Amino acid sequence: MLEICALIDFPDGDRRLIPAADSGYELDIVIFREGDRFYAIDDACTHVGASHLKSRVEDGVVECWLHKGKFCLESGEPVRYPARIAAQIHAVQVINGVVTLFPGVHPRDAS
Ligand code: FES
Repeated sequence: MLEICALIDFPDGDRRLIPAADSGYELDIVIFREGDRFYAIDDACTHVGASHLKSRVEDGVVECWLHKGKFCLESGEPVRYPARIAAQIHAVQVINGVVTLFPGVHPRDAS
């Protein structure tokens, strides 16, 4: 797991790029905050690899800025063409007021 920052320093609507060198995971990861929810996804769209850092997030869905493919951030499943391959998503939890990323751990597998 990787502590990112204090909850107060990660406001609603913000996003962070977590370099692979910092997380030990194979790819960079983007964390999004939407309301009280945090989501994390590989920073390489499964369509042709665009960074999600500047993609739009609404209602738990990320829309890739390049070709407008969409992915559910709760499951990683593609929900709009041309996205067809599920994205790797990662658990994010707030632990004792600290936003904490679990690289490589699907949210359904996080306790
Ligand atoms: S690179 Fe993301 S939809 Fe094409």
